Amino acid sequence: MKILTTVKEVREYVKNARMAGKTVGLVPTMGYLHEGHASLVKKSVAECDVTVVSIFVNPTQFAPNEDFDAYPRDLERDVKLLTECGADCVFHPEADEMYFPDATTTIVPDVLSKNLCGKTRPIHFGGVCTVVGKLFNIVTPDKAFFGQKDAQQLAIIKRMVRDLNFGVEIVGCPIIREEDGLAKSSRNTYLNPDERKAALCLSQAVKLGREMVLAGEKSTKVILDKMIKHIEKEPLAKIDYVQAVDMSMQDVDTICGETLFAMAVYIGKTRLIDNFIID
Ligand code: PAJ
Repeated sequence: MKILTTVKEVREYVKNARMAGKTVGLVPTMGYLHEGHASLVKKSVAECDVTVVSIFVNPTQFAPNEDFDAYPRDLERDVKLLTECGADCVFHPEADEMYFPDATTTIVPDVLSKNLCGKTRPIHFGGVCTVVGKLFNIVTPDKAFFGQKDAQQLAIIKRMVRDLNFGVEIVGCPIIREEDGLAKSSRNTYLNPDERKAALCLSQAVKLGREMVLAGEKSTKVILDKMIKHIEKEPLAKIDYVQAVDMSMQDVDTICGETLFAMAVYIGKTRLIDNFIID
């Protein structure tokens, strides 16, 4: 597996793959990889001839009070996992390779980024779109793979690709969970043993909500109330939001069409997210 650090090297690598008639898949990540990331990489390996995985803790999607410095990093471990998954190339740039100090152009997502995570993280999705847009321009993939775990991010990126005519197909992939239900996340490493137990209230609320929908409940208020009450029973949990929205990230009172039930909950200082989608 190739490990590349410059834009020029990646362009050359992709050019050669294309000249050999190969299709290219991209999996953007911030590293400290787990089986959630691995599932995206394996899907890309299955669907594309060449898979490029980017590992870049993107500073522009973190606010000054967030965990950019503390974000876990372990390139050696990531490279081992990616080799096992069959990835062909890792793009691991430094921040100054990705961002010019005098850059003036960014991608600003509009309506979709205002609700849910965008309420407490107002600059987050602008940073995500800008870096993902840059990665699309650098790698020019045929397909790019994103997790449903970050459902709002996936919806925003799909919209960005449509709105700005990026020539890439976005493939959404299901949430990978620990055996006890907790959605896998690089941030789970922040949890101490008590918090790790408490964190189960998110996936339990997801299960509860899904069961109510399957039982025929249509009122999102009734479902959300039950989910919220369950999370509030956990003393270490503090709700950021638990909401039901349509695919434009607008709140809905009744389930009709595709509906996303999404939540962000602080467990101690760690902010975790989880969700389920009803089609
Ligand atoms: P990161 O949090 O590293 O996630 C990279 C990709 O892995 C995202 O598409 C995310 O949804 C997916 N993922 C994470 N946990 C998952 C799980 N448990 N199951 C399935 N997929 C999972 O998301 C980012 O990085 C960044 O915002 C990025 C898109 C790379 C831009 O900087």
